[in-house]
Amino acid sequence: MTKHLDDALASNRSDNPTFDDVLRASVTRRRFLGIAGAVVSLPAFAALTGCVAGDIAQGPTLGFAPVPPSTEDRFIVPPGYRAQVLYRWGDPAGIADGMPPFRMDASNPADEQALQAGMHHDAIEFFPLPAGAGGATRGLLAMNHEYTDDGLLHTDGMKTWSAEKVRKAQAAHGVSVIEVELAGGEWRVVRPSSYARRITANTPMTLSGPAAGSELVKTAADPEGREALGTLNNCAGGRTPWGTYLTCEENFNGYFAGGATIPADQGRYGIRKAGWGYRWHEFDARFDLAQNPNEANRFGWVVEIDPFDPRAKPVKRTALGRIKHEGAMLTLAADGRVVVYTGDDERFEYIYKFVSRDRYDPARGKANGALLDEGTLFVARFDADGSGQWIALEQGANGLDAANGFPDQASVCVRARQAGDQVGATRMDRPEWIAVHPVTKEVYCALTNNSERGAKGQPGPDAANPRAANAYGHIVRWREAGGDPAAARFFWDVFVLAGDKQHPDPAKRSNAKGDDFGCPDGLMFDARGVLWIQTDASAGAMRGEDWQRIGNNQMLAANVVTGEIRRFMTGPRHCEVTGAALTPDGRTMFVNIQHPGETPSERSDPSNPRQFSSWPDYDPAGRPRSSTVAIRREDGGIIGA
Ligand code: FEO
Ligand code: CA
Ligand code: CA
Repeated sequence: MTKHLDDALASNRSDNPTFDDVLRASVTRRRFLGIAGAVVSLPAFAALTGCVAGDIAQGPTLGFAPVPPSTEDRFIVPPGYRAQVLYRWGDPAGIADGMPPFRMDASNPADEQALQAGMHHDAIEFFPLPAGAGGATRGLLAMNHEYTDDGLLHTDGMKTWSAEKVRKAQAAHGVSVIEVELAGGEWRVVRPSSYARRITANTPMTLSGPAAGSELVKTAADPEGREALGTLNNCAGGRTPWGTYLTCEENFNGYFAGGATIPADQGRYGIRKAGWGYRWHEFDARFDLAQNPNEANRFGWVVEIDPFDPRAKPVKRTALGRIKHEGAMLTLAADGRVVVYTGDDERFEYIYKFVSRDRYDPARGKANGALLDEGTLFVARFDADGSGQWIALEQGANGLDAANGFPDQASVCVRARQAGDQVGATRMDRPEWIAVHPVTKEVYCALTNNSERGAKGQPGPDAANPRAANAYGHIVRWREAGGDPAAARFFWDVFVLAGDKQHPDPAKRSNAKGDDFGCPDGLMFDARGVLWIQTDASAGAMRGEDWQRIGNNQMLAANVVTGEIRRFMTGPRHCEVTGAALTPDGRTMFVNIQHPGETPSERSDPSNPRQFSSWPDYDPAGRPRSSTVAIRREDGGIIGA
């Protein structure tokens, strides 16, 4: 997560309703669990995983010894597991005509950075090779590089500032596609590879869907409003059944600065005159709001990327709404329509889902991408009785009309937050990743924390966000009516309240059955139905009393039937654990470690880059580097089983 978020004010000043009836949430839990067991498709589950029927009733076995909380500067896995650092910031991506090695003093220029792994790894997905095969020893990894710590990115940090430094920072953003293979029990990056690609903040992209071509996205450089340059602050992601990668633009607001006054519509997205200190606007007019006020409307989207074709132009799918997208979790409705869940990660923001107009047709291959252009965007209202409603964000309905600033669907998509305000969506505690159970289709959403819940002038606790000053976060889950992801109604409960069971303040205690954790962020279901939970407590929080018994950020496995939660790995100091992908055989897990050694201050000190972490190189002349790690069992077994 971009650190500055913790300092940013919540942008939602709407007076959407809150629900104070926490007592009724416990009634909800009983009802929810009753529904949950009813729709498990037992034969399908057994076929998918080879598991016995007992797994359905009791949930999947967590067959590893939990690791203790850690404050060590190491990546720690359970006994019987091995972890291998695979792809670090600055490592060559494997693009055939240029593979500059990383220089430990961060002196690679912008042109070299554009051929190397970006900074701040986040979401990751594995695509087997050959395409569509079930192979588990060769494939592509597509992953996000969320943002930059310019104190580490340049040898002297931001002491001097130049167009070259801006270009390097832009080249360290975006996405990597790399080819990897397993040989002799070790993964390696294939270099060179005809698939290898870096997508940066300057890569041309198509704008598609309702906002494409609208006045709101036209700029002097793109008078048609159909081609944007680059993708930014790519946080969580997702994948489609037709073999493409979805990358999500989160805190895009921080890159824009300047202008005399900030229009209310941009203010609603947290855009401020001063920006967040990236200083791109000083050398790149695109990010200067005074010169290009519409440029900020060209970010905040879900971007579709074909990892198998390095020439394919990425597509910004505007029908999914413009928000600070955390992820894009795609599943199929009962009738084959595509459903995408996506959270807006800021304090008091909303949870959305998109339902396509047309049905997925496997025979159409990549052309199914057009499904993401036509459909209905919904926003969630969590009612205190444990039910919920998906409210359509359709121009002409629910007050989304010209009088309220929504003359067309383009304006609804560009102003999705304001549309959510208009229809009375529920203000949540920072929606992060969303995961859908592979069999039951239950949906789990991490609500990472919200220090402002209940603060003066802010909404108080409600049923779905039950704790004031929510320091540790929680995970909410829901079942769609009839078990159909396209349903308009759902039933929800709180799966777990994160925290510390021994905390002197009862409001900060966890109700987890098993290991404690704080600030859930990444979520992923594996084929056995294990919910993998990753955490992102900030460096500032981790240094405080609340994290004494929880330690470094970590990854846990949950049996969502029994509620058991077990700590699987712990990361190096001040890192965030974010993004995980499994090979189809479940025997390798790729995990991304972001910002090891993050400073509690705004940026790292270039004169002391290893102040908090030396992972993964432990090189006295080096600096901490975000990295992809491959985890395997020594006996080659299924991860977590
Ligand atoms: Fe980039 Fe919401 O974490
Ligand atoms: Ca995140
Ligand atoms: Ca986060």
